[in-house]
Amino acid sequence: MGSYVKLAKRAVETDMPVMVKKYAHQHNHVNAAYEYVLCVGDRVFIPCARERALHGVGGDLFILKTHVGYVYMRANGGLDAGFGPKSEKCCVLGPGLSFPFFMFPYTAFFTLYKGVEIGEGVVYWQPPKEALNKVKELVWEPSISRYGADEGIPELREALIQKLQKENKLVKSSVMVTAGANQAFVNLVLALCDTGDSVVMFAPYYFNAYMSFQMTGVTNILVGPGNPETLHPDADWLEKILSEAKPVPKVVTVVNPGNPSGTYIPDPLLKRISNLCREAGSWLIVDNTYEYFMYDGRKHSCIEGDHVVNIFSFSKAYGMMGWRVGYIAYPSGVEGFQNQLLKIQDNIPICASILSQHLALYSLEMGPEWVTEQVKDLVKNRDIILEALSPLGEGAVKGGEGAIYLWAKLPEQYVEDDKVVDWLATTHKVIVIPGSACGCPGHLRISFGGLTENDCRDAAEKLRRGLEDLLSNGIVQ
Ligand SMILES: Cc1ncc(COP(=O)(O)O)c(C=O)c1O
Repeated sequence: MGSYVKLAKRAVETDMPVMVKKYAHQHNHVNAAYEYVLCVGDRVFIPCARERALHGVGGDLFILKTHVGYVYMRANGGLDAGFGPKSEKCCVLGPGLSFPFFMFPYTAFFTLYKGVEIGEGVVYWQPPKEALNKVKELVWEPSISRYGADEGIPELREALIQKLQKENKLVKSSVMVTAGANQAFVNLVLALCDTGDSVVMFAPYYFNAYMSFQMTGVTNILVGPGNPETLHPDADWLEKILSEAKPVPKVVTVVNPGNPSGTYIPDPLLKRISNLCREAGSWLIVDNTYEYFMYDGRKHSCIEGDHVVNIFSFSKAYGMMGWRVGYIAYPSGVEGFQNQLLKIQDNIPICASILSQHLALYSLEMGPEWVTEQVKDLVKNRDIILEALSPLGEGAVKGGEGAIYLWAKLPEQYVEDDKVVDWLATTHKVIVIPGSACGCPGHLRISFGGLTENDCRDAAEKLRRGLEDLLSNGIVQ
């Protein structure tokens, strides 16, 4: 039995996640190409029609149908689900309601299709020129190539403390710099949760946060509803669940403004959520990655407390996605918390890239005005995409109050949104994200941050044509 078969077998027999390595064979070389974790509830999704035709039958693939879902195996025992130079046809999505169990959106998914990209959560600009130029001068400095302090270089941390106090009104928070907001989140899950704990998220949720919980052994993820009109987290539901669930959920998490919805959580609602968490003894993690991405006069706000942790990112604001810098603002007064964070930090990145931290510092020196200047024109993109989504009808599209996303409901018969996504990409050459990846089948997430206005018009045209075709003729390959 091949090793993947053994792994899959283990996945069937145990509730523990299983680490799977995918090897890509190229010119007789075997490259360890991908690693991912299979969790209970994962399933395999094959977006390509030819591969889908093999679903459940043989060919040179066979499918192991397990309670963790389907695992596609080569007859020789090699795992064939996934992407790679050799097999760019399959992708693996996740549990019951389609949880993506590996790098679904940002790496593999987008290499699958050729088309205009309005799926990925990115911005089209680069970091400030002045900051990049300064960093160029630094590369020969010996300190750049050494390890730095786990919690971040002192100059950046000091600047961030000032920024948090001035802009976010977070006056009792300490800072840890991380390799992006995603690492910040994993760090917090490891610090706050134990295997088997329950946690709370709201649908539609940010898929990476869901995966972070799952990967670290939190199996009881309680997904609360959003208000059907506003998509705001349903605080009445939260009140009920926090008073009824035993043991009390360890963590409640929200993204503000939201990914994938692009909706903003108004200050009174954020306060109510925070109060409910405090009264119940739950932690609240607020992801503020899109703090500067607010439209139509709305203002972003943060909340502080001994049970609240805030996450921030340089990725979108300063066009620094690839530099990997984010940070955690955590309550200074909670004994032992810093040590837990440091322990985890020291075992994962040790420190965020020192060069990247300097770029972050120089970028921060440009001030929030620099970011606002980049963000202000995104409303044009949003409105262009909104127009393109209009065939879906009134009330079908929500969000876009903040962040870089619109959230669209497909007609009732398209609950299997991955099929629509596949068809839009292959037939109309426009790439979006299936809502099922965020816990809400039958939806699409569209990003309006990654393209300049002209390119956005082109993408919108393709999207509109695709949706009109879908509504008139259905999915015709
Ligand atoms: C809500 C949210 N949090 C975190 C991240 C990841 O940010 P970073 O690049 O800082 O890891 C993203 C990226 O799309 C995001 O949308």
